This record gives sequence, C-alpha cells and structure tokens, in this order.
Amino acid sequence: MRGYDPGLMSDRLSSIRATLETHGQAHLLAFYDDLSESEKAQLLEQLEHIDFAGLEALIETHVRAGAQSEVPANLQPAPYYPLRGGSTDDAVQYRAAGGDLIRAGKVAALAVAGGQSTRLGRNSPKGTYPATVVTGKPLFRVLAEQIVANQNRYRVTIPWYIMTSQTNDAATRAFFRDNNCFGLNRRNIFMFPQGLLPSIDASSGKLLLSEKGAVAMNPDGHGGCIKALAASGAIHDMVARGIEHISYFQVDNPLVKVIDPQFVGLHVAASDSSAEMSSKMVPKAHPQEKVGVFCRSDGKTIVIEYSDLPEQLVQQREEAGHLRFLAGSIAIHMISVKFVQKLTADPLRQALPYHRADKTVPFIDPKTGRRVEPTQPNAVKLEMFVFDAIPLAKSSIICETSRVEEFAPIKNARGEDSPMTSHQLQSDRSGAWLEAHGVKVPRDAEGHVAAKIELGPLTALTCDDLAGIDLPVVIQPGAAIVL
Ligand code: UTP
Repeated sequence: MRGYDPGLMSDRLSSIRATLETHGQAHLLAFYDDLSESEKAQLLEQLEHIDFAGLEALIETHVRAGAQSEVPANLQPAPYYPLRGGSTDDAVQYRAAGGDLIRAGKVAALAVAGGQSTRLGRNSPKGTYPATVVTGKPLFRVLAEQIVANQNRYRVTIPWYIMTSQTNDAATRAFFRDNNCFGLNRRNIFMFPQGLLPSIDASSGKLLLSEKGAVAMNPDGHGGCIKALAASGAIHDMVARGIEHISYFQVDNPLVKVIDPQFVGLHVAASDSSAEMSSKMVPKAHPQEKVGVFCRSDGKTIVIEYSDLPEQLVQQREEAGHLRFLAGSIAIHMISVKFVQKLTADPLRQALPYHRADKTVPFIDPKTGRRVEPTQPNAVKLEMFVFDAIPLAKSSIICETSRVEEFAPIKNARGEDSPMTSHQLQSDRSGAWLEAHGVKVPRDAEGHVAAKIELGPLTALTCDDLAGIDLPVVIQPGAAIVL
C-alpha cells in the first residue's frame, strides 16, 4: 500500500469518485468520511483495482439482462473411453506411457482450494476438513500423503500447486506450516491466490459493501485457475522445473487419484487427444444428479451444467436403458502447460467466460449503515468454470472411471455429497480392495460395506498395492479399521 499523503489521497478520491459516478456505483463511498485514515487508504486501493468499465458490461449482460448460459441446439452425447479392466493391452500401454512421464518429472499436481465452502458452512479452508472415516484426516493430508506415496513410487519430485483465495490463503499456509507440510518439502509446494470479483446486488446491479470501508468480493470460480496460474508465476515455475502436464483436481474429493498414470498416458498418447485438456467422467447416478454433463457440439467436447441441460435431454435413454447424456463430469482433468500458456498469452483477453451464480451475501445498507443478513439469495457472483477451457482444446478426450474408485466429494453438511456419503464411499472402496485380496468384508442389504475401513495412501495407492501386506482375514460388521 502507498504511504499516506493527504494531497495525493484527495486526488485519488476525486478520480475514483468520478469513475464511480460514471458507472452508477457512487454509494461505495457512502461512509468514506467516517473511516479511519488507514481504512480510507484500503478502500481507495481496493476501488482502484476494480475494472468498473469491464464490470458494467458484465452487470448489463449477467445481472440486468439476466443472461442465461447459451445451450447449443445440436447437442450430442460426448464419446468417452469406457472403463476397462486395468490389464487390457491398451490400459497397460497407457499406464506405462503415463508412468514414464511421471518418472521423468514432467507431471505436477494442482488442487483448486479457493472456494468459500458456504454449503458446508465453515469458515476455515475446505482442505482442513476432517475427511477420513476413522481418524478424520483432513483433506489436505489425504492429498499430501498421495503425493508422498507417488514420489516414493516414481522416485521423483512431484511439485504441488494449490490455488487459494485471498480469504483463505493465510489460513491455508498456516495449516501447512503447523502440520510440517505433511512430510512434503515446502519448496515443492506453490500456493497462489486466485482472482476476486465484486459481488453484485441482484435487483439493482449495484456492488455490495461487506464493511463500510470494503467492497464485498468473491473468488472468480475454479476456472480462475487458468488466469491465476499465469499471473502468479506458477506456470513459470513449472516451465523452470520441466513440468509439461498438470493433474487438476478439487480439494474436496478424498478419493481422487492426485496423479493417475493411466489417465496421464491416455491424455498424452491417445490418437484423438491433442494432449491439451482431458477429463474423467462417471456415469450419472440418476438423471437429476447435480454434475455437469459431457456433450459434443460442432465437433467440440463441452460440459453443460446440470441446470442448463434441457429436461428432455436429461431424461433421454438409449435403447439399452441407460441415460443418453450419461457422462457426468467429476472435475478431474489433465491440462498441459502449453495449453495454459496458449490461453493466457494475451493478459488482456479474458480466457474463459463468466457464469452467473445467485448467492446469499451479507452486506452494509448504504442508506442506513446497518448490516443486513439476507436469508434468500440476494446477490450475483460471477464465476469462471475450468471446464469451459475444454472446447478451446483442439481435440479433448474423456475417460470413464468408477464412482466408488474416485469420486466421494464433500460439498454439503448433510444429504447428497456430504461427509456421510463420502465416508460410505471411502469404506466401500477400501472394502472392495480388501475383498479383491480375499478378506471377508461385511456388506449391508444395499451392498454397502457395513464397517468403517480407512486405507491410507501410504499403505496403498491402488488395489494391487495390497498384495504382500498383512491383511485381516475377516472384518466384523460395525468394526472400525485403519490400515
Ligand atoms: P464448489 O463450487 O463445489 O464448492 O467448488 P466451494 O466453493 O468449495 O463451496 P460452496 O459452493 O461455497 O459451498 C469446487 C472446487 O473448486 C474450488 C473449491 O475450493 C473446490 O475445490 N473453487 C471453487 C475454487 O478454487 N475457487 C472458486 O472460486 C470456486
């Protein structure tokens, strides 16, 4: 922040006031005279960093005109590489190709962890959430242990890039410090905050104040990672380390394979992949499941948000009975460093489009100065989605994986995608792995594992890793086991 100079401050105030008046946002200075000198300086600094002209255009289209995402008329289901046994020729070949790249130090991990966890209702970073079924290991530890185990397996350093946001960056760094980086070398962990955008009042298009001296801001979506990777210097760091491909995942999925050699191999070596951006999918559990769906339009692979897919297509079924638009996106991608460089070559060009999200945002009423805590969505947040980069690739492939193997997200405090459903899936996967090695595992009437089984990444990264490990013969119903 600049030093205090009354003359300069007054010039800056006049200039920003003029800008705000031009764009109908003068209420943001309603309490300026009541602020302390440092609060005034902070507010001016914040306002000077907002592109009001650019924002006005977005408010016009996304708030006032209520622009809906456009869904192409000619949607087709996207083709994908079906799930096959890991021992088929193709799988072995792709796994070997991916393993070679990992071993050569060309693959990095990227976790996006800048979200606000509003649905989970917590103030701390989501990565600190106790996620595992018996010991309650936090998500960051589960992911870190996988990186440690992969580093040991491939005898290589796997740098870990973590996108935070301004609101959780300090807490995330402190959590890693307090936990000694979970056994990783801190020089190989690169945290970078994503961009922020003002939250906008849904009915008036005015920006909201979170305090009398601060504009309410929200992180710019997981798609903000494309821009932030370049702006933060993370991409430079990757190039300097010889990294060519990025394994992208979200912080809230404790079953994600942070690096999957078969997926890496498919991404770089499949004949129809341009090796720019690839994705994993799972078959949707039911038509209304809240996941984006991979589609094809004009020869390009795209993801259509669950809320945007026309109902008639949501329900359509193939003759065999399964959903026609079946391929659910689970937010796991391989992205090449060159592709990020291509998308961000012109820093003035917006790499990805914005989407509107209606959210509940507390604010200071500019007329009364009182804090308002709305109970219904009152604000528009503008966010970018990482999957909007997919159609910008020349040729993007998708591969199927199994839900129980790789997808147990923690999004909501209860119900679907909650700690409870995630725990069950974690135990289901551990149980299936143990059964494959002859262990007798109790199951309930629905086929779910009827015990809590926690299998850490340092014990096994894959089912095959359990070979040669001393395993129990039988697990009793209701038991809590840590391996
Ligand atoms: P979600 O949108 O599913 O959840 O983000 P959230 O933001 O964590 O929580 P809610 O929606 O407020 O309840 C999916 C993943 O994308 C990251 C999140 O951290 C999570 O890993 N994300 C989301 C970002 O990194 N930045 C964002 O702006 C949004």
